[in-house]
Amino acid sequence: MMNIVLMGCPGAGKGTQSAKMQEKFHLYHISTGDVLRAEISKGTELGKEIAGIINKGNLVPDSLMISMLENIVKGTDKGIIFDGFPRTVAQAQALDDMMKRLNRKITQVIMITLPEEEIISRITSRRQCKKCGEIYHVDPSAPMQTCKACGGELYTRADDTAERVKHRIEVYHQETLPVKDYYQNSGVYKEVDGHQTPDQVFAEISKVLEEGAK
Ligand code: AP5
Ligand code: MG
Repeated sequence: MMNIVLMGCPGAGKGTQSAKMQEKFHLYHISTGDVLRAEISKGTELGKEIAGIINKGNLVPDSLMISMLENIVKGTDKGIIFDGFPRTVAQAQALDDMMKRLNRKITQVIMITLPEEEIISRITSRRQCKKCGEIYHVDPSAPMQTCKACGGELYTRADDTAERVKHRIEVYHQETLPVKDYYQNSGVYKEVDGHQTPDQVFAEISKVLEEGAK
């Protein structure tokens, strides 16, 4: 069974590629960012606390993230794509422990690389569907449109302003790049060039996954 960690800077294309991977390889997609945004949209006390953290581009505490994740992992028998998790070395260690407890293991770690100068334009042009989560790349000056898949309303994430993206990139360098070192010598780490069309990126990812499954 495949259990994949999908890494990459903000805007690298983790969500875009996860949607394709989920369909082709019948995987269960967990985006910790989506999990946190779902909690915010419930309007709970916890959601308010989370909004205060992630809308500034900071990371939520490891202990909170890990306990939210474990419940979701326990709820599926499918292979999993972890999109945006782990984001700290402590989370990577906790994930290893959790997978052992659940008799699973991480079979691939895929890092989608992207030149830093591409990040801001990609993110400020992103819209996401409120209803089904579909990700779009739009002309930012055009009026908001509706989702082609479900007709839902498209919105701009609160952490997607140029200033917040800059902060998210700093946090990524400080907290998340060490996770790359954690996995690099594990034998399951692979990099994929994210600076190509989504279909080209997906072809590379598919190759990695198909080779890993042999
Ligand atoms: P999260 O939602 O995970 O945000 P992120 O890591 O910053 O990544 P993004 O979702 O912004 O980008 P993506 O790589 O998914 O790119 P996408 O496919 O959308 O996390 C948000 C926040 O939640 C964090 O800052 C933190 O506060 C908190 N959080 C989350 N996980 C946490 C954790 N584990 N611990 C603690 N806190 C956590 O693509 C982006 C745009 O580019 C789209 O418009 C898309 O259409 C376009 N695009 C995609 N691919 C291509 C391509 N190949 N060519 C051209 N355009 C493309
Ligand atoms: Mg995403």
